[in-house]
Amino acid sequence: MIYHKLGKIPAKRHTVFMSDNDQYYYEQLFGTEGFHGVSSLLYHISRPTQIKSVGKAIDLSPKAAIEKNITPRLVKGFHVPPQDDFIEGRTVFFFNDDLTIGVSAPKKSMTDYFYKNGNADEMLFIHEGSGTLKTFVGDIDFEYGDYLIIPRGTIYQLHFNDENNRLLVVESFSPIKTPERYRNNVGQLLEHSPFCERDIKLPVLADPIDEKGDFLIKVKKDNMLHDITYATHPFDVVGWDGYFYPYGFSIHDFEPITGRIHLPPPIHQTFEGHNFVVCSFVPRLYDYHPKSVPAPYNHSNIDSEEVLYYVDGDFMSRNHIEKGFFTLHPGGIPHGPHPGAMERSIGKEKTEELAVMIDPFRPLKITQEALDLQDSSYVYSWLEGDDLKGIPPQIE
Ligand SMILES: [Fe+2]
Repeated sequence: MIYHKLGKIPAKRHTVFMSDNDQYYYEQLFGTEGFHGVSSLLYHISRPTQIKSVGKAIDLSPKAAIEKNITPRLVKGFHVPPQDDFIEGRTVFFFNDDLTIGVSAPKKSMTDYFYKNGNADEMLFIHEGSGTLKTFVGDIDFEYGDYLIIPRGTIYQLHFNDENNRLLVVESFSPIKTPERYRNNVGQLLEHSPFCERDIKLPVLADPIDEKGDFLIKVKKDNMLHDITYATHPFDVVGWDGYFYPYGFSIHDFEPITGRIHLPPPIHQTFEGHNFVVCSFVPRLYDYHPKSVPAPYNHSNIDSEEVLYYVDGDFMSRNHIEKGFFTLHPGGIPHGPHPGAMERSIGKEKTEELAVMIDPFRPLKITQEALDLQDSSYVYSWLEGDDLKGIPPQIE
């Protein structure tokens, strides 16, 4: 993370800080790992604790249709119908105790309420659409290809420029960070990192809103969405500093690492959380050894599930893949290129593929929503010729 400072703050932390008309500002320590993790200090016009009412709660718990899965699966994420609301319209496909993976296709901006995920960091990947992430520590404009990393506790709204929006949504029950091996002992991204601090989209603080009234914040905690009405506007921060805030990063700014022969997926790693990694597969030159095989070799996911989300371009190792498809290759069995993909890749000089990969280290549960949108013949798609005869068309 990068130290960042916006607006006005007192010279010394935890000291009296007043406005020009002698009103106190109210300090808030904002972090998620006790008092030892990264944090920021925020200065509010009003105390951020003024609850007027606690209303209804909705249960958004993902339900496992399959608890223990060993089947490779393909789920068509773009077949989720668009819905007005970003939060209630979220559809979870895969989950475990470390994260959830799903999509949302919201048509409407969040204008009449605010949202806070109380116990999960969120990673939103903007597959279609553009707009502004508005938060209590500043705004970040987003567009196609942006990852938005939103630490838990961030009060935010998504404002879209139009109704055509498709987002990949990951909730992480641990902090989402850039890979440890790309940072030095003070957190700076190292020279061999595929991206650096200049690529990070930092929040820009808007003028504080000094309003009193009824302000609904929908707070997600333990998969319940609670309605809490506050007496003051949550975007009343006059200034803050620290290391803890939401930020954006475009997948188009990920500089691919390439080699003479095939390099394994860790070269694509972009983020990590507890028990999972996120990788970006971006357009790049292929391996340049004269006899190199650019397609990946068959491999077991040792101690890992593998979820690939296809964004754009031809995906070299898979046949019949479209935008918005997810594939899940469970740990415990090997997977590899589709028939003909390895042969097709030989001699190719570059790929235009664009995809996000999420590798959870613990098994994923599958929701009914995923099963409803799956291509149930995917498990057989590595067979050829006569071996396909007599294959049942459907699996559970
Ligand atoms: Fe793989």
